[in-house]
This record gives sequence, structure tokens and C-alpha cells, in this order.
Amino acid sequence: MAQLAIHGGNPVRSEPFHRWPVFDTRDKQALMETLESGKWGIGAKVTERFEQHFADYCGAQFAVSCTNGTDALYIALQAMGIGPGDEVIVPSYTFMATAISVLMVNAIPVFADIDPETYNLDPESVEKQITPKTKAMIPVHIAGNPAEMDELMRIAEEYSLLVLEDCAQAPGAEWNKRKVGTIGHAGTFSFQSSKNLTAGEGGAIITNDESLADRLRTFTNCGRVKGGAWYDHHELGGNHRLGAFQSALLLVGMERLEGQMKQREENARYLQSLLEGIDGVSFQKSYAGCTRHAYHLGILRYQPQRFKGLAKSRFAEALRKEGIDCSTGYLPVYQYNFFQNFPDRMLAYRDLYEGRVNYRSVQCPHCERVCQDEAIWLFQEMLLGSKEDMDDIVEAIVKIQCHVSELFE
Ligand SMILES: Cc1ncc(COP(=O)(O)O)c(C=O)c1O
Repeated sequence: MAQLAIHGGNPVRSEPFHRWPVFDTRDKQALMETLESGKWGIGAKVTERFEQHFADYCGAQFAVSCTNGTDALYIALQAMGIGPGDEVIVPSYTFMATAISVLMVNAIPVFADIDPETYNLDPESVEKQITPKTKAMIPVHIAGNPAEMDELMRIAEEYSLLVLEDCAQAPGAEWNKRKVGTIGHAGTFSFQSSKNLTAGEGGAIITNDESLADRLRTFTNCGRVKGGAWYDHHELGGNHRLGAFQSALLLVGMERLEGQMKQREENARYLQSLLEGIDGVSFQKSYAGCTRHAYHLGILRYQPQRFKGLAKSRFAEALRKEGIDCSTGYLPVYQYNFFQNFPDRMLAYRDLYEGRVNYRSVQCPHCERVCQDEAIWLFQEMLLGSKEDMDDIVEAIVKIQCHVSELFE
């Protein structure tokens, strides 16, 4: 008789994991107050309060809220003066937005490989990609796990590069006790539905540089400048402002953030301890400088050779059928259709960068192996549940390993 759920056996788990998003009467009250205030957009005090609170939480001097994490990257690059002819180094293992934002300012994203243990931007690979045109790099704290900021900042200083931290997955994460986003020149965040702090959509940029903060505000607010008139536009800035209802939800969400972080940390530690007893599935590693991981994802490192060569995609499918939500995650960003067919899709680039941009020849071997064979994602809300939830994850892995032969029949 078949044991595995994928073949009709009983699944390890039939209950859903922890719900997401989380809300209670405080959110309803905050939304009603905003509704009744009549201030739903620009000038809403609730947005000012959120920005101040978020800046304080991150230990940054300034926070500028905006529509989403993609716009946050785009606005930050604009405000930092990145433009046509510039190259910006980005990791090959990230959400598409990290690279796309560079194209949005007409600069060129250059892909670097990742560290095979942490999945973060590999400083050695970054150094190899530097040319006289390189102006900046965007380390991404992937899964909420801080990138090697000491090494990356050393490289940035040596080559006079700007550093924009993509913290979309990492609010609250810390590198040597400093919150991410405050180590480079600026840091960006996303409050999209899946994120640890969410208002459905939304974003923010933090910095300690006052003139940069003013420029961030300008590019978020139709090119207007501080103290300027309503119809006086100085820069190519669109309207990327956050709405007041989202600010209200984010302020309440921040009341829960710390408690949720602690819960995720506890469950992640417990899950890691259980996985130490499993031959063939381990947890994404962190650097010694990581003093806090935000666990936006719990990334499992699957070794097919310990499962008789079973493909990662098939393992993930079997895991899902056992009732364990998971994803096989990203492809290397340069392998997406858009980049493979570049620059035909971007006519301006054909003339500006003739012959210099060919993503078909990019190779990042660590990233390619991780995407193909290794990385399996568990989602942050799964880590908000109980120890029993973690036990189920490991039970399902062990079950698949014991009955792996069934998957070849
Ligand atoms: C690493 C990373 N960067 C940027 C973004 C873009 O954020 P958003 O979806 O809010 O535009 C996301 C999330 O979706 C992300 O995970």
C-alpha cells in the first residue's frame, strides 16, 4: 500500500499553518480613525507617525515611505544619482525587482554569484565584476538573513561605490547589532502581502544622510522640493506616495513585529536543531556577523544524493502533498525570459550599450546549483506557529526519505 500522500497515502498534516496576514480589533480601529480623519493621502499625520516610528525602530535618522519595495529601490537609485552608463552589481539570487530597478534608471545590472552556504551576495564575486563604470551595489538580505556587510562595505570603500541595501525581506534583521538598512548609504523595504511587516502593498527607504533623504522625498513626491510650491517640479519624479490607510495598518503591525520576530526565531532554532538529525536536509547558514535573522523565509538546503537522486522539484511536490507548504523559489535572475531576450526588449539599450549587455553568457554556478538542486522555501508565517508544526515539517521530510523509492515507481 502506498505510504506517501502523493500516491494516496495519509498526509502528515491536514491543518493549515499559521494564518497570514494577522490582524485584530486594533487594525480595524486604526482604519476607522483614518477613514474619519478625512486625510487619506498626502499630509496625513498617520504617515508621518509611521515614518518616524519606522526610522526609530531601524535606528535610522530618516525614513521615507512609498508605494512598494520596487519603487523604493528605483527612487533610491534615482536619488543616489545612478543613471545611464552606470553599472550596478546585484545578486543573481533575488526577486526580479532588485535588478529591474537598475534598468528603471537606465543603468545596467551586473550579476554576481552568491555564497553557497548563506545564499547572499558573494563579496569575492562582487569584486570580480567591478569595472570603471561600476557605481553601486545592491546587497539583498535574502530570506531575512543579513549579507556579509563588513566585506561588502570594505569593497565599496576601496572602489568608491554606493551601497543600497535591499531589506525587503529583512525588517528587524541585524548585522553586528545594527539593523540592516543602516549600514550602507540607504536601505529599502517592502510591505507587500507576504512580507513580515505588511499593509498589502507599501515600501520605505531609510538613510542617515539628510540631503539624500530630501532627494528621496523629491523623487517620491512628483519632483517637488522641500519648501517648494505645489506646482513647482524640479526632478523626474512620479507620485510614489504611500496611502494613509496603509500607514495606519503598518503602525499597528509594528506593535506585533517584535513578538512575531521572537516567535519565528524560536521556531527556526527548534527546526534547525531537529534538522541536525536528518541526513540530506539542512538550514541556510548565517555569517558570524548576523546577530538577528528576520526569517522571512526558512530556506532548507536539500541534497538530492541523500534521496536517491530525487529531483528537488519532485521532493517539493511530495512535501506539499504531505501538507507542508513550500516553494522551490527563484531561478537565477539572468535566466528569466526578459534577460535572456535582452536588449531586444529594451530598445534604448540596443543603441546605448551595443554589445556590452548579453545576459545569455552570464554564469553564476553557485546560484544555478542552489536554484536547480538545493533551495526549498518555507514561509515566514509557518514559523509563527507551534513546535508541533515544526515537528510535522521534519516528520514529512523523514517520511519522504524512508519511502523515496515509491517516487521512482
Ligand atoms: C528582495 C526583494 N526586493 C524587492 C522586492 C519588491 O518589493 P515589492 O513587491 O513591494 O515591489 C521584493 C518583494 O517582493 C523582494 O523580495
